[in-house]
Amino acid sequence: MSETFDVIVIGSGPGGYVCAIRAAQLGMKVACVEKRATLGGTCLNIGCIPSKALLQSSENFHETMHSWKDHGILVEGVKLDLDRMQDRKAEVVSANVKGVEFLFSKNKITWLKGAGRIVGPGKVDVAGVVYDAKNIVIATGSESVPLPGVEVDEDRIVTSTGALELEEVPGHLVVIGGGVIGLELGSVWRRLGAKVTVVEFLDRIVPGMDLEVAKTFQRVLAKQGFAFKLSTKVIGATRDDSGVTLSLEPVKGGAPETLRADVVLLAIGRRAYTEGLGLAEAGVETDPRGRIKTDTHFATNIPGIFAIGDVIAGPMLAHKAEDEGVALAEILAGQAGHVNYAAIPGIVYTWPEVASVGETEETLKEAGTTYNVGKFPFTANGRARAMGSTDGFVKILADKATDRLLGAHIVGPDAGALIAEIVTAIEFGASAEDVARICHAHPTLSEAVKEAALAADGRALHI
Ligand code: FAD
Ligand code: NAI
Repeated sequence: MSETFDVIVIGSGPGGYVCAIRAAQLGMKVACVEKRATLGGTCLNIGCIPSKALLQSSENFHETMHSWKDHGILVEGVKLDLDRMQDRKAEVVSANVKGVEFLFSKNKITWLKGAGRIVGPGKVDVAGVVYDAKNIVIATGSESVPLPGVEVDEDRIVTSTGALELEEVPGHLVVIGGGVIGLELGSVWRRLGAKVTVVEFLDRIVPGMDLEVAKTFQRVLAKQGFAFKLSTKVIGATRDDSGVTLSLEPVKGGAPETLRADVVLLAIGRRAYTEGLGLAEAGVETDPRGRIKTDTHFATNIPGIFAIGDVIAGPMLAHKAEDEGVALAEILAGQAGHVNYAAIPGIVYTWPEVASVGETEETLKEAGTTYNVGKFPFTANGRARAMGSTDGFVKILADKATDRLLGAHIVGPDAGALIAEIVTAIEFGASAEDVARICHAHPTLSEAVKEAALAADGRALHI
């Protein structure tokens, strides 16, 4: 007889595994289907965690090579041991994925190993066995978008997955796509010595982010040695024994050109992954971009089938998937689960970091909302000077009439940690003045946030 669960979650990424844990905490009998050999999804295995491990290691290497001298620390004979760096990354991933396995056993969640397929109302097939579920949650995540003419082999032409596994530092890494993946992984290999060229279709990098921040970010990366070819599209790639020749075409007209690379990283976005799920047979509707359509309660058009995370609309971020997992589990338990999409931060973990929450100047202008801008540069922050990390600024956007915080954008040291204060303030409906009147410890980078909040009312103290 087949086993019956209150909830079967398909996919164990941050959306799926967090939903499973919360549902189990709320007293439900839960199973989670995962076809990968380890739990944790893209994020823990081939995404957030391994990329941050390599970002940390490569930053340590770069600092030792280039910045310590400035502090009066002279180090000779510094060498890169890439094998050890990669082994360390694998150890970090392993500790994290085993952590999820421990949490599953602690919360009595059954891991159904194999690919899940919906084979009827409330029925999921895993490796030839059909399990019954009162509720099915699809959390199957995303995969990288292919580019016609550029065939990925995960050796010379790689996605983020291959770019995390390179066994030697490429002489020239060409990144197709000036988005988050391209700039984070481009930074890793640039710091380890590669020449890095970013080829971007649009006339700017990191589309969707505040334009002024994007321009400053690009300038800082150029100072670090990144080369940019904006408004340029890649129309083909030819691989030979020693590398790849890319054919480029300017978007706004002009002569085509070629670009030689040792390794090409294709990072032009990610798309919902639903292969083999049996969606069409189950009658589950998707949108034109292949994402599963849901209502505000994560319900699909088929009763008893829900979806969360990268496979539905919204930013493809681990913490967005996690919050949806918690909200859905609470809704299934009859509680009022909710996600505030206006207060989801986005961070690029380069150095300096870039962090953003809420509206940008561009979205406010488009909506016709009048706003005040408060800006404060890290060159005027004592702690940033002491750190030797003064690139960038904090920018706060507040409603002109009410002073309510609408958005914040930071390019600078530890921007990812600094943005948390503004996310909290937005969540509580605070004004710029509320943030400005909070006592911020001295000397900290957070004083730049306070000063930017003061600047929104034209009364910054240190500029
Ligand atoms: P996923 O994490 O993609 O998990 C889906 C899981 O479902 C996978 O394990 C897959 O094997 C499994 N699955 C799929 N189909 C089936 C099936 N039929 N049966 C069984 N199992 C199935 N986000 C951040 O917020 N911060 C970051 O720093 C960050 N860095 C990133 C770096 C990289 C290189 C990449 C690629 C992504 C990064 N992301 C980051 C994005 C983040 O990884 C995703 O937003 C997040 O993993 C989405 O979670 P999810 O649960 O929706 O899906
Ligand atoms: P992205 O959407 O961030 O950037 C893709 C870039 O490629 C865009 O600038 C786009 O204009 C450009 N592009 C599209 N087609 C192109 C073409 N044919 N030629 C040249 N350029 C082209 O996508 P990316 O970097 O692949 O990352 C996918 C997602 O993964 C992100 O959107 C994010 O949600 C998630 N992620 C999050 C991270 C974080 O939170 N720190 C880190 C890495 C990934």
